[in-house]
Amino acid sequence: MSTTRKRVRKAVFPVAGLGTRFLPATKAVPKEMLTVVDRPVIQHVVDEAKAAGIEHFIFVTGRNKGVIEDHFDSQFELERTLAERGKTKELEQLMAELPRPGQASFTRQQAPHGLGHAVWCAREIVGEEPFALLLPDMLHFAPKPCLADMIEAYQAHGGNHIAVSPVPEDQTHLYGIVGVEDRTAKVSRISGMIEKPKPAEAPSNLHITGRYILQPEIFAILERGERGAGGEIQVTDAMIALARSQPFFAVRFDGTIYDCGAKIGFLMANIAYALARDDLAPTLRTELAKLLQA
Ligand code: G1P
Repeated sequence: MSTTRKRVRKAVFPVAGLGTRFLPATKAVPKEMLTVVDRPVIQHVVDEAKAAGIEHFIFVTGRNKGVIEDHFDSQFELERTLAERGKTKELEQLMAELPRPGQASFTRQQAPHGLGHAVWCAREIVGEEPFALLLPDMLHFAPKPCLADMIEAYQAHGGNHIAVSPVPEDQTHLYGIVGVEDRTAKVSRISGMIEKPKPAEAPSNLHITGRYILQPEIFAILERGERGAGGEIQVTDAMIALARSQPFFAVRFDGTIYDCGAKIGFLMANIAYALARDDLAPTLRTELAKLLQA
């Protein structure tokens, strides 16, 4: 018997964070606009969502983030200049990547009450349907986009899905951690979740990597505004509450994650993404080898 599930059409990108770890780079430029090779971090994450079939991109922004909205809009002067100069390839690429009218929405998180609060700010735009949530700091590098795997898992099982991957046991306090029924399976029922536990309290070493498919009932829970780890409204706590009435699945991510909210992660992302490009890899390899020998 086949079950029809509501399609996951919308994705939420919380982009209100201050990016203090990258000052002074992020004084006037949002951290999501820092580039990994020649694309802003946020563009890589939107690419992942698009490749998974997402049709509506919802950005939860804050003050000083206006340039993100500009990035996903048309740039008339630039487009005309490229056309006049015969830069057809560049122009075609820009136009192919431009969201269609109405496909991108922007709302603001007015105060920094945590990730759960940022997600709640998107409730009116998401409405009554399942949605994807992608944390832009975390670049998921893999031949098949992480969210595409998750949407497949969602189509098979319904419910809510969280991407997970192992971290060293002394790092559980940095992430949301989940326990699973079957550690060997690609997709497994989740048996427990906790936000930023000490190693002794962690149900496993599987961390929440920053990709979710959530049912809209999460919003009513976030609406309560209950504070958790760090005094903030946490998505993980809302998921724990929702898991009492709905199934949650962990989808194992087998690629590499670059945490672009941290300097080393950001630098490594630049190198890894450049090494994956035919136009850059050969020269970069030679130059890196020279640098490492010096
Ligand atoms: C958030 C989530 C956490 C998750 C992490 C992934 O934490 O609350 O569960 O593991 O993102 O990056 P944050 O990094 O915002 O502290």
